[in-house]
Amino acid sequence: MDASQAVPPAGAGQTRVTGAGQAAGAARALGGGAADAGLAGKRALVTGGAGGLGAAISRALAAQGAHVVVADRDAAGAAAVAAEVGGESWEVDLLDTKALEALTLEVDILVNNAGIQAISPIEDFDPAAFHRIITIMLEAPFLLIRAALPHMYGQNYGRIINISSIHGLRASSFKSAYVAAKHGLEGLSKVTAREGGPHGVTSNCVNPGYVRTPLVEGQVADQARTHGISEEQVLGEVMLAKNAIKRLIEPDEIAGLVAWLASGQAAMATGASYVMDGGWTA
Ligand SMILES: NC(=O)c1ccc[n+]([C@@H]2O[C@H](COP(=O)([O-])OP(=O)(O)OC[C@H]3O[C@@H](n4cnc5c(N)ncnc54)[C@H](O)[C@@H]3O)[C@@H](O)[C@H]2O)c1
Repeated sequence: MDASQAVPPAGAGQTRVTGAGQAAGAARALGGGAADAGLAGKRALVTGGAGGLGAAISRALAAQGAHVVVADRDAAGAAAVAAEVGGESWEVDLLDTKALEALTLEVDILVNNAGIQAISPIEDFDPAAFHRIITIMLEAPFLLIRAALPHMYGQNYGRIINISSIHGLRASSFKSAYVAAKHGLEGLSKVTAREGGPHGVTSNCVNPGYVRTPLVEGQVADQARTHGISEEQVLGEVMLAKNAIKRLIEPDEIAGLVAWLASGQAAMATGASYVMDGGWTA
Protein backbone atom coordinates (compact mmCIF):
# COMPACT_ATOMS: atom_id res chain seq x y z
CA MET A 1 0.00 0.00 0.00
CA ASP A 2 1.34 3.44 -0.76
CA ALA A 3 0.96 6.43 1.51
CA SER A 4 -1.80 7.97 -0.60
CA GLN A 5 -4.02 4.99 0.16
CA ALA A 6 -3.48 5.27 3.87
CA VAL A 7 -5.91 8.06 4.45
CA PRO A 8 -9.47 7.51 5.53
CA PRO A 9 -12.08 7.67 2.78
CA ALA A 10 -13.45 11.02 1.71
CA GLY A 11 -14.60 12.81 4.79
CA ALA A 12 -13.06 10.43 7.30
CA GLY A 13 -9.86 12.36 7.87
CA GLN A 14 -10.79 15.83 6.85
CA THR A 15 -14.42 16.58 7.51
CA ARG A 16 -16.05 15.87 10.78
CA VAL A 17 -19.49 14.40 10.17
CA THR A 18 -22.02 16.18 12.32
CA GLY A 19 -24.94 14.62 10.48
CA ALA A 20 -27.16 13.60 13.34
CA GLY A 21 -29.83 12.89 10.71
CA GLN A 22 -27.59 10.34 9.03
CA ALA A 23 -26.68 8.80 12.37
CA ALA A 24 -30.25 8.71 13.57
CA GLY A 25 -31.12 7.03 10.26
CA ALA A 26 -28.65 4.27 11.06
CA ALA A 27 -30.15 3.95 14.54
CA ARG A 28 -33.64 3.64 13.05
CA ALA A 29 -32.40 1.07 10.54
CA LEU A 30 -31.16 -0.99 13.47
CA GLY A 31 -34.43 -0.68 15.33
CA GLY A 32 -33.19 2.09 17.62
CA GLY A 33 -35.31 5.13 18.37
CA ALA A 34 -34.50 8.65 19.54
CA ALA A 35 -33.94 7.35 23.06
CA ASP A 36 -31.14 5.14 21.70
CA ALA A 37 -29.31 7.96 19.96
CA GLY A 38 -26.87 8.76 22.78
CA LEU A 39 -23.98 8.99 20.31
CA ALA A 40 -25.81 11.02 17.65
CA GLY A 41 -23.43 13.41 15.92
CA LYS A 42 -20.41 11.42 17.05
CA ARG A 43 -17.98 9.91 14.58
CA ALA A 44 -16.42 6.57 15.50
CA LEU A 45 -13.56 4.60 13.92
CA VAL A 46 -13.48 0.86 14.55
CA THR A 47 -10.41 -1.07 13.35
CA GLY A 48 -10.91 -4.69 12.36
CA GLY A 49 -14.55 -3.74 11.88
CA ALA A 50 -15.22 -6.16 9.03
CA GLY A 51 -15.80 -9.18 11.23
CA GLY A 52 -16.01 -10.72 14.67
CA LEU A 53 -15.98 -8.30 17.57
CA GLY A 54 -15.32 -5.26 15.37
CA ALA A 55 -18.52 -5.78 13.39
CA ALA A 56 -20.54 -6.18 16.60
CA ILE A 57 -18.94 -3.02 18.02
CA SER A 58 -19.70 -1.11 14.80
CA ARG A 59 -23.35 -2.20 15.05
CA ALA A 60 -23.60 -1.24 18.73
CA LEU A 61 -22.12 2.24 18.22
CA ALA A 62 -24.33 2.86 15.18
CA ALA A 63 -27.37 1.73 17.16
CA GLN A 64 -26.55 4.54 19.59
CA GLY A 65 -26.51 7.02 16.71
CA ALA A 66 -22.78 7.23 15.91
CA HIS A 67 -21.53 7.51 12.34
CA VAL A 68 -19.12 4.58 12.11
CA VAL A 69 -16.01 4.31 9.92
CA VAL A 70 -15.40 0.58 9.54
CA ALA A 71 -11.65 0.13 9.01
CA ASP A 72 -10.20 -3.20 7.86
CA ARG A 73 -7.79 -4.73 5.37
CA ASP A 74 -10.80 -6.79 4.24
CA ALA A 75 -12.34 -4.16 1.94
CA ALA A 76 -15.45 -6.14 1.01
CA GLY A 77 -16.19 -7.12 4.60
CA ALA A 78 -15.73 -3.55 5.82
CA ALA A 79 -17.98 -2.23 3.05
CA ALA A 80 -20.70 -4.74 3.94
CA VAL A 81 -20.69 -3.80 7.64
CA ALA A 82 -20.54 -0.08 6.77
CA ALA A 83 -23.56 -0.43 4.47
CA GLU A 84 -25.45 -2.30 7.16
CA VAL A 85 -24.85 0.38 9.81
CA GLY A 86 -25.20 3.42 7.54
CA GLY A 87 -21.51 4.28 7.99
CA GLU A 88 -18.50 4.23 5.69
CA SER A 89 -15.63 1.83 5.12
CA TRP A 90 -11.89 2.42 5.03
CA GLU A 91 -9.61 -0.20 3.50
CA VAL A 92 -6.42 -0.04 5.51
CA ASP A 93 -3.57 -2.41 6.29
CA LEU A 94 -2.42 -1.64 9.84
CA LEU A 95 0.96 -3.18 9.01
CA ASP A 96 1.65 -0.11 6.87
CA THR A 97 2.89 1.99 9.77
CA LYS A 98 4.66 4.52 7.51
CA ALA A 99 1.29 5.52 6.10
CA LEU A 100 -0.28 5.66 9.57
CA GLU A 101 2.47 8.06 10.70
CA ALA A 102 1.19 10.62 8.17
CA LEU A 103 -2.47 10.37 9.22
CA THR A 104 -4.79 12.87 10.86
CA LEU A 105 -8.04 11.50 12.18
CA GLU A 106 -11.14 13.55 12.93
CA VAL A 107 -13.02 11.05 15.02
CA ASP A 108 -14.65 11.39 18.43
CA ILE A 109 -14.46 7.70 19.32
CA LEU A 110 -11.54 5.43 18.40
CA VAL A 111 -11.84 1.69 18.95
CA ASN A 112 -8.53 -0.15 18.51
CA ASN A 113 -9.86 -3.61 17.88
CA ALA A 114 -7.98 -5.30 15.01
CA GLY A 115 -5.92 -8.27 16.14
CA ILE A 116 -4.36 -11.53 15.04
CA GLN A 117 -2.97 -14.55 16.88
CA ALA A 118 -0.05 -16.96 16.45
CA ILE A 119 0.63 -19.85 18.81
CA SER A 120 4.07 -21.42 19.30
CA PRO A 121 6.66 -22.00 22.03
CA ILE A 122 9.05 -19.04 22.27
CA GLU A 123 12.05 -21.02 21.02
CA ASP A 124 10.18 -21.79 17.78
CA PHE A 125 8.26 -18.53 17.46
CA ASP A 126 8.67 -17.02 13.99
CA PRO A 127 10.24 -13.57 14.51
CA ALA A 128 8.29 -12.18 11.55
CA ALA A 129 5.00 -13.32 13.14
CA PHE A 130 6.06 -11.74 16.45
CA HIS A 131 6.77 -8.47 14.65
CA ARG A 132 3.43 -8.56 12.78
CA ILE A 133 1.47 -9.03 15.99
CA ILE A 134 3.28 -6.24 17.84
CA THR A 135 2.80 -3.94 14.83
CA ILE A 136 -0.94 -4.51 14.35
CA MET A 137 -1.86 -4.73 18.03
CA LEU A 138 0.46 -2.18 19.69
CA GLU A 139 2.24 0.10 17.22
CA ALA A 140 -0.83 0.74 15.03
CA PRO A 141 -3.01 1.64 18.06
CA PHE A 142 -0.27 4.08 19.16
CA LEU A 143 -0.20 5.67 15.69
CA LEU A 144 -4.01 5.91 15.48
CA ILE A 145 -4.26 7.44 18.97
CA ARG A 146 -1.50 9.86 17.99
CA ALA A 147 -3.46 10.79 14.84
CA ALA A 148 -6.76 11.22 16.70
CA LEU A 149 -5.75 13.17 19.83
CA PRO A 150 -5.25 16.62 18.26
CA HIS A 151 -8.89 16.69 17.07
CA MET A 152 -10.14 15.29 20.38
CA TYR A 153 -8.09 17.80 22.38
CA GLY A 154 -9.37 20.60 20.13
CA GLN A 155 -12.97 19.83 21.07
CA ASN A 156 -12.22 18.77 24.66
CA TYR A 157 -13.91 15.41 24.11
CA GLY A 158 -12.80 11.98 23.03
CA ARG A 159 -13.12 8.30 23.75
CA ILE A 160 -10.30 5.81 23.14
CA ILE A 161 -11.34 2.21 23.64
CA ASN A 162 -8.67 -0.45 23.28
CA ILE A 163 -9.80 -4.03 22.84
CA SER A 164 -7.29 -5.85 24.97
CA SER A 165 -7.94 -9.30 26.42
CA ILE A 166 -7.60 -11.29 29.59
CA HIS A 167 -4.17 -11.81 28.02
CA GLY A 168 -3.51 -8.12 28.68
CA LEU A 169 -3.59 -9.06 32.38
CA ARG A 170 -2.55 -12.72 32.49
CA ALA A 171 -0.20 -14.93 30.49
CA SER A 172 -0.79 -18.21 28.71
CA SER A 173 1.92 -20.45 27.31
CA PHE A 174 2.72 -20.26 23.58
CA LYS A 175 1.16 -16.81 23.09
CA SER A 176 4.27 -14.68 23.68
CA ALA A 177 3.59 -12.11 20.97
CA TYR A 178 -0.12 -11.76 21.71
CA VAL A 179 0.38 -11.51 25.49
CA ALA A 180 3.24 -9.03 25.04
CA ALA A 181 1.22 -6.88 22.62
CA LYS A 182 -1.84 -6.83 24.88
CA HIS A 183 0.23 -6.02 27.98
CA GLY A 184 1.81 -3.19 25.99
CA LEU A 185 -1.63 -1.97 24.91
CA GLU A 186 -2.64 -1.79 28.59
CA GLY A 187 0.31 0.53 29.25
CA LEU A 188 -0.40 2.66 26.19
CA SER A 189 -4.04 3.00 27.24
CA LYS A 190 -3.10 4.15 30.75
CA VAL A 191 -0.62 6.75 29.45
CA THR A 192 -3.31 8.00 27.04
CA ALA A 193 -5.70 8.31 29.98
CA ARG A 194 -3.12 10.33 31.97
CA GLU A 195 -2.33 12.69 29.09
CA GLY A 196 -5.91 12.92 27.80
CA GLY A 197 -7.67 13.52 31.11
CA PRO A 198 -7.16 17.30 31.17
CA HIS A 199 -8.46 17.45 27.57
CA GLY A 200 -11.74 15.57 28.09
CA VAL A 201 -10.36 12.38 26.54
CA THR A 202 -10.83 9.03 28.27
CA SER A 203 -8.92 5.86 27.45
CA ASN A 204 -9.78 2.37 28.61
CA CYS A 205 -9.17 -1.26 27.83
CA VAL A 206 -11.84 -3.90 27.43
CA ASN A 207 -10.64 -7.35 28.43
CA PRO A 208 -12.71 -10.19 27.03
CA GLY A 209 -12.31 -13.86 27.76
CA TYR A 210 -13.01 -16.15 24.81
CA VAL A 211 -15.59 -14.63 22.46
CA ARG A 212 -17.42 -16.50 19.71
CA THR A 213 -15.60 -15.03 16.66
CA PRO A 214 -13.70 -16.45 13.66
CA LEU A 215 -10.41 -15.89 15.56
CA VAL A 216 -11.52 -18.19 18.38
CA GLU A 217 -13.33 -20.69 16.20
CA GLY A 218 -10.00 -21.11 14.35
CA GLN A 219 -8.16 -21.68 17.65
CA VAL A 220 -10.72 -24.29 18.77
CA ALA A 221 -10.24 -26.22 15.53
CA ASP A 222 -6.41 -25.91 15.76
CA GLN A 223 -6.28 -27.12 19.35
CA ALA A 224 -8.63 -30.03 18.61
CA ARG A 225 -6.23 -31.13 15.86
CA THR A 226 -3.10 -30.58 18.01
CA HIS A 227 -4.43 -32.43 21.06
CA GLY A 228 -6.37 -35.05 19.09
CA ILE A 229 -9.61 -34.27 20.97
CA SER A 230 -13.03 -32.98 19.94
CA GLU A 231 -13.87 -29.28 19.63
CA GLU A 232 -16.33 -29.67 22.55
CA GLN A 233 -13.49 -31.04 24.70
CA VAL A 234 -11.22 -28.15 23.68
CA LEU A 235 -13.87 -25.68 24.85
CA GLY A 236 -14.84 -27.43 28.08
CA GLU A 237 -11.49 -28.84 29.19
CA VAL A 238 -8.95 -26.40 27.74
CA MET A 239 -10.22 -22.95 26.83
CA LEU A 240 -13.03 -22.62 29.36
CA ALA A 241 -11.46 -24.78 32.07
CA LYS A 242 -10.95 -21.73 34.33
CA ASN A 243 -14.34 -20.16 33.55
CA ALA A 244 -17.04 -19.88 36.21
CA ILE A 245 -19.62 -19.72 33.38
CA LYS A 246 -18.83 -22.38 30.78
CA ARG A 247 -19.74 -20.74 27.53
CA LEU A 248 -18.15 -18.43 24.97
CA ILE A 249 -18.98 -14.74 25.28
CA GLU A 250 -21.17 -13.42 22.46
CA PRO A 251 -19.70 -10.49 20.47
CA ASP A 252 -22.67 -8.24 21.25
CA GLU A 253 -22.05 -8.66 24.99
CA ILE A 254 -18.60 -7.08 24.55
CA ALA A 255 -20.02 -4.50 22.13
CA GLY A 256 -22.51 -3.38 24.79
CA LEU A 257 -19.64 -2.65 27.19
CA VAL A 258 -17.80 -0.71 24.46
CA ALA A 259 -20.93 1.35 23.72
CA TRP A 260 -21.21 2.22 27.41
CA LEU A 261 -17.55 3.30 27.55
CA ALA A 262 -18.22 5.52 24.52
CA SER A 263 -21.22 7.14 26.19
CA GLY A 264 -21.51 10.31 28.22
CA GLN A 265 -22.20 8.22 31.33
CA ALA A 266 -18.64 6.88 31.25
CA ALA A 267 -16.94 10.29 31.50
CA MET A 268 -15.18 9.34 34.77
CA ALA A 269 -14.16 5.89 33.61
CA THR A 270 -10.58 6.20 32.43
CA GLY A 271 -7.24 4.45 32.71
CA ALA A 272 -9.07 1.24 33.60
CA SER A 273 -9.40 -2.28 32.26
CA TYR A 274 -12.91 -3.72 32.03
CA VAL A 275 -12.86 -7.48 32.29
CA MET A 276 -15.72 -9.56 30.85
CA ASP A 277 -14.54 -13.16 31.02
CA GLY A 278 -17.19 -15.38 32.58
CA GLY A 279 -15.03 -15.56 35.71
CA TRP A 280 -11.83 -16.82 33.98
CA THR A 281 -9.62 -14.49 36.07
CA ALA A 282 -11.65 -14.75 39.31
N1 LIG B 1 -12.35 -13.50 20.04
C1 LIG B 1 -11.92 -13.53 21.29
O1 LIG B 1 -12.16 -14.47 22.04
C2 LIG B 1 -11.13 -12.40 21.84
C3 LIG B 1 -10.83 -12.40 23.21
C4 LIG B 1 -10.11 -11.36 23.76
C5 LIG B 1 -9.70 -10.33 22.93
N2 LIG B 1 -10.00 -10.36 21.60
C6 LIG B 1 -9.51 -9.25 20.78
O2 LIG B 1 -10.60 -8.70 20.06
C7 LIG B 1 -10.12 -8.15 18.84
C8 LIG B 1 -10.96 -8.66 17.69
O3 LIG B 1 -10.82 -10.07 17.63
P1 LIG B 1 -11.82 -11.00 16.81
O4 LIG B 1 -11.94 -12.24 17.58
O5 LIG B 1 -13.04 -10.24 16.44
O6 LIG B 1 -10.91 -11.29 15.54
P2 LIG B 1 -11.34 -11.58 14.01
O7 LIG B 1 -10.21 -12.37 13.43
O8 LIG B 1 -12.69 -12.15 13.95
O9 LIG B 1 -11.36 -10.12 13.40
C9 LIG B 1 -10.19 -9.34 13.35
C10 LIG B 1 -10.34 -8.32 12.24
O10 LIG B 1 -9.11 -7.59 12.15
C11 LIG B 1 -8.80 -7.43 10.79
N3 LIG B 1 -7.35 -7.29 10.61
C12 LIG B 1 -6.41 -8.21 10.89
N4 LIG B 1 -5.20 -7.73 10.52
C13 LIG B 1 -5.39 -6.50 10.01
C14 LIG B 1 -4.53 -5.51 9.45
N5 LIG B 1 -3.21 -5.74 9.28
N6 LIG B 1 -5.06 -4.34 9.04
C15 LIG B 1 -6.39 -4.12 9.16
N7 LIG B 1 -7.27 -5.03 9.66
C16 LIG B 1 -6.77 -6.21 10.08
C17 LIG B 1 -9.30 -8.71 10.12
O11 LIG B 1 -9.47 -8.54 8.73
C18 LIG B 1 -10.60 -8.96 10.87
O12 LIG B 1 -11.71 -8.33 10.25
C19 LIG B 1 -8.62 -8.52 18.76
O13 LIG B 1 -7.81 -7.46 19.19
C20 LIG B 1 -8.52 -9.68 19.72
O14 LIG B 1 -7.21 -9.81 20.24
C21 LIG B 1 -10.70 -11.37 21.04
